[in-house]
Order: sequence, then C-alpha cells, then structure tokens
Amino acid sequence: MNLSLAEKRLILALDAPKDAGEVGFATAGEALRAAGAPERLGLLQVSETESISYKLTPEGARFADVGLPERRAVSAIGDGLPMRELASAGLDGDEVKVAIGWLKKKGWATIEKGTLVLTNGVPEKGADELALEAFPEAPEEISRQLAERGLLTATERSTRTLELTSEGHAYRATLDPAQLESSKEVNQITPELIGRWAEMTPEERASHEIRGFDFNVEVAGKHPGKAHPLTQMMSQIRQIFWNMGFEEIAGDYVESAYWNMDALFIPQDHPAREMQDTFYLEHPKTLPVDADVLARGKQIHETGGDTGSKGWQTKFSEEVSKQALLRTHTTNTTVRYLADNPSGNHKVFGLGKVFRKETMDATHLPEFYQIEGIVTEPGANFNTLIGLCKVFFAAMGFPETRFRPAYFPYTEPSMEIDVFYNGKWMELGGCGIFRPEVTEPLGVEHPVLAWGFGLERLAMMRLGLKDIRDLYVSDVNWLKTTPLQ
Ligand code: PHE
Repeated sequence: MNLSLAEKRLILALDAPKDAGEVGFATAGEALRAAGAPERLGLLQVSETESISYKLTPEGARFADVGLPERRAVSAIGDGLPMRELASAGLDGDEVKVAIGWLKKKGWATIEKGTLVLTNGVPEKGADELALEAFPEAPEEISRQLAERGLLTATERSTRTLELTSEGHAYRATLDPAQLESSKEVNQITPELIGRWAEMTPEERASHEIRGFDFNVEVAGKHPGKAHPLTQMMSQIRQIFWNMGFEEIAGDYVESAYWNMDALFIPQDHPAREMQDTFYLEHPKTLPVDADVLARGKQIHETGGDTGSKGWQTKFSEEVSKQALLRTHTTNTTVRYLADNPSGNHKVFGLGKVFRKETMDATHLPEFYQIEGIVTEPGANFNTLIGLCKVFFAAMGFPETRFRPAYFPYTEPSMEIDVFYNGKWMELGGCGIFRPEVTEPLGVEHPVLAWGFGLERLAMMRLGLKDIRDLYVSDVNWLKTTPLQ
C-alpha cells in the first residue's frame, strides 16, 4: 500500500478510536488530511459528532450570583408593593422592566391598580434558577432557554473521531514503529532538495525514501476561465485571413437600403426586401445618401448606364434607397470599402453581425455573424476564388468543400458553398465575382472576388451541435468541458 509517512504515522497512533485533535498531529485539520487516503482505502472511518457548549454572559454571571431580577422582586413584594417602588428595592432601571415581564410570564405576580401582588406566595425555585446556580452542570434544554434569554452563549463544536477498521488494524500490525520513526520520506521533490542532493553522500541519498506517484488518483477537474468557443473561432478566422495578408474592415449595423441592396444591384422589388425578411427601422426611418451616389444607382437600376447591362428596366425610387434598416448581410461593408478605394489591389475581410427576420429553429437565427471578404487585383478570377475559399475552410478544419452554381443579383458567376462534415453536406455561404453593375459605377479597376459565410453554422459543425441556438445558451457545463478551439 502506497501510503505516505504521515498516513502511516496516523494509523500507528490509532490503537483505539481517537479525536482528530489527539493523534499527535499539529492540528486536527492536519490529522484529517492524513486520514483522507486511508479512509478511501477502507482502513479507517471518520465520524463526526456535533456538540454545543455554553458559557455565562456577564449578565448571566451576575444573576448566578445575586439571583434573577424576578426572584429579587418577589422578596421585595411581600404583601404587596406599588410598582414604582420596585426601583428602590435593589433593582436598577432595566431590571425593573425585566422583572415585571418575567413575574407575569411565570405567573408569580399580578398588578392590581398599580400594585404588585404575589399570586401564590413565594414561589419555589424554577429549573432556570437551579441551573444558573449549578452552572455549568445544567440540563441541555434549560441551557438553551437561558441562552435565549441572553444569560448564556452557545458555541457549536464538531469533533471528529478516527477509528481503524479491521483492515486498518491488520495493516497497523504490519507497520514497524522504529522504522517509521527514522524514515526520511520525501513526498515532494523541491528545488531545494535537488540542490542538496548534489552534496549528499550515497548513504545519505539512500536514506531518503522517495514516494512514488499514484497516477490512478482521481482529482477534481480544472476549469480555468477561457473565451467562449465562438469568440475563439473568431480569433482563429482573423488569424487565417491575416496570415494571407488580408486587412480587417467593419461597418455599422444600421444601414441604408442603398448600401445594403441598391449598390449591390438588388432590384428594388426583390422579395428579400419585404418587411417579412428585413428589419426596417422606425427611428430613424431614413438615412441620407449622397445625391450623386443616388443618381448613379438610379441610372444603373433603370437602364444599366454605360456598363453594357440593360439594368432592371423598372422605376428606381430614391425614397426606397433611403430607408433605414438593420443590415441583412455584411456585403454592405465590402461594397462601401470599394466605393472608398476603387483603385489598386485590395484584400479585406470583415466579421460582423447581420439581422434577418428568420423564424428561429435548429439551423436559423435572426441575428448571426457573417465572415465576409473581397480580393481585387488584376487577373483575379474564378479559380482564385475557389482556391481561396478552399484554403479558408481547410484551415478551419473542413477539407471537403463543394461549390454549386447559384444566383445573387450582385455576382456573376455565383456559387453556394457546402462543407462536408459528419456524413452530411451543410450550406455555409455564397461567393462570386461582382458584376459590372456593382463595380463600374464605383470606378473599381480590377475584378472583385467576393464571399460571405455564416459563422454559427460553421461553429455548430466544429462543436458537434445539433441545434444552432445552443451556441447562445450559456450552459456552464458545456462551456467548461468544450475543448479549446
Ligand atoms: N451576401 C450573401 C449572403 O448573405 C453572400 C455573398 C457574399 C454572396 C458575397 C456572394 C458574394 O448570403
């Protein structure tokens, strides 16, 4: 049995059941610590007994000496005593009130027209008086009553008794007291011991008994603070883009319909613009959009301008453009970025929240994050785009991706991206190359590769969740046990 020296010494001390404070350890706490392992091994038992001890309060001590106020009052009353004269009968101010209270409570006296009269002559001593006189030899129940009256204070104490089991006694018989006495057991290898080790003779070293490690001991799990799994994934996403030379951009949640939709050549009568898909704002109801920007948008939407497109051939409303809404995707940030930086090469990404009037279910949230990005450079093409998406998803731990032809009003070609995980394909987002109707009015020089992915669905797969809502339920156990991402 791999017990420490302290544990063996404790067992040796337990020839009979003993209080933890009386087994030769500096404190009962130390003895109890040494008792832990032997107890788990079935060698000893720890039993706990609660006891209450009482002490006289200063007032209690005085009353034990001179008698309770009601007893002293009884002597003064005799054949009847006007109440106010009680004060001159050896009872001080506070005691008069106390005495009258107890005289009534105990039924010893009544008050008749301001005069105290004994009910039944001089009463015999009560249990409380006897207990007070005999203290500390007092019955527990009476002591409790005296404590309630403030004459005693109660202290609760628990004593722990250690007792060997029959296995414990058998083990105790194998211990050699003399050897335990002289043993130099080492429970912990300290830097200090290592320092001394170098100076020791072989004999000195041999006299040290180094205790082995027990790798089967159960220990409590450690759960240090850490970032939420989603936050960890966001850091990882940023790292992936930074490593590829991208810069991060961000934008506001509140956006005009112009930058959320018109600038992206989304027709003004597109179904996604309807109230049931988009959160429109009441305050503010509209946002200003530059007049020349609006004029450009109008031309593109109505006729295609000089982009070679025919546009949507419908009437463009500037009022619709100015509607304030919560952005439905983060593509507003990349198109705004292009408007501000039309020339040169750019690689930017964004990680931000978007809002849609979705009914919440296991795979939909009305508020979620998108991972958005663009690359614009001479010769940027379809292959570059697919390659980029693949590199990103592989770095996130999803080497298998599938690209399906899709439609977005602002890209051509357009694709939807699925990721394979746990035997299933899951749709994670879209990508494409911005159409001339988007880029030409902004004066953008080179082709623009663009994409937008959903963060929570990605997280769901990574974390093995069946319900996307679980990400936002702060289940402490889940948070504690989810490994670092
Ligand atoms: N904005 C699209 C969405 O919300 C994704 C996308 C971004 C598609 C950029 C193509 C280009 O699903």
